[in-house]
Amino acid sequence: MSELSHVPVMLVESMEALNLRPGSSLVDGTLGLAGHARAFCQEIAPDGKFIGIDWDEAMLAEAKLRMAEVQGVDCHFFHADYRDIARCVVEVMGKVGVDAIFLDLGLNNAQIADPKRGISFVGEGPLDMRMDRSRGETASQGLNRWTEREIERILTVFGDENWAKKIAQVVVETRKESPLKTTQDLVDCVMRAIPPSKREKRIHPATRTFQAVRIAINGELDELGRALGDAARCLKVGGVMVVLSYHSGEDRAAKVCFKELEDEGFKSLYKKPLVPTAAEISKNNKSRSAKLRAIKRISIEE
Ligand SMILES: C[S@@+](CC[C@H](N)C(=O)[O-])C[C@H]1O[C@@H](n2cnc3c(N)ncnc32)[C@H](O)[C@@H]1O
Repeated sequence: MSELSHVPVMLVESMEALNLRPGSSLVDGTLGLAGHARAFCQEIAPDGKFIGIDWDEAMLAEAKLRMAEVQGVDCHFFHADYRDIARCVVEVMGKVGVDAIFLDLGLNNAQIADPKRGISFVGEGPLDMRMDRSRGETASQGLNRWTEREIERILTVFGDENWAKKIAQVVVETRKESPLKTTQDLVDCVMRAIPPSKREKRIHPATRTFQAVRIAINGELDELGRALGDAARCLKVGGVMVVLSYHSGEDRAAKVCFKELEDEGFKSLYKKPLVPTAAEISKNNKSRSAKLRAIKRISIEE
């Protein structure tokens, strides 16, 4: 097991909402380093069933090691997108229907901290950013292919970046000379685009750009609302799904999807999303943007 670490966010609130019992069946669709999953499994033992999914093979391998000590729970792991949750559930349970689903969207510290993955502007690495490195286009390929308008749109929509137009211009000018290959190449473009006097003090000037390109490369918001709806339909009557999000686009998708599900026999547990306590934020600053929404299946509409 490696030294990698990730502090599970809003664990107590997630546990309360999921209402786990011995013998419950649970899917963690974003397993990461299994911080939440290990705590949840203590609640569903003995006789619990656990399905862990992650599209990042490295995270999945690490999570399996960390969950080796779990006892009294029948554990199954899938290298998959959680959009494929129904297939995974049917493979394990024989049919669709579980007691609890947990989705902790986004990425974890271990992925950010590894410069080889090119997700962060801290430490130079290849401009990759893919969560599933077995497929898809890298950030370098995207940034060297997208039009200036596309880059501007990505930075605006996924990063709320006020300097999107200028950054897009600099990226396109730069790649005419030499393609962007490393995280430092992208940081340099951002620094050239935003004058020093206009840079935010609170966060690194490249934060929004890196977030936006990563979301685009991994299709993190693509049809998210539909994916959440499909996941919720894998619940049994009485089952609960918890979604933890860290980005306004993700939370909006969850809010709209949950509203629509209310016409289909589901009920949101909270009117407004729960947020971390001040005490949690002071211990783990990365939790500050978290929003928790939960929905329960009340009936199955035919
Ligand atoms: C915030 S981390 C989860 C951390 C985890 N709850 C813990 O306590 O260790 C999110 C994880 O979800 C995975 N992930 C993100 N989107 C995914 C998707 N569409 N399908 C499968 N896994 C995904 C990421 O690779 C990452 O490992």
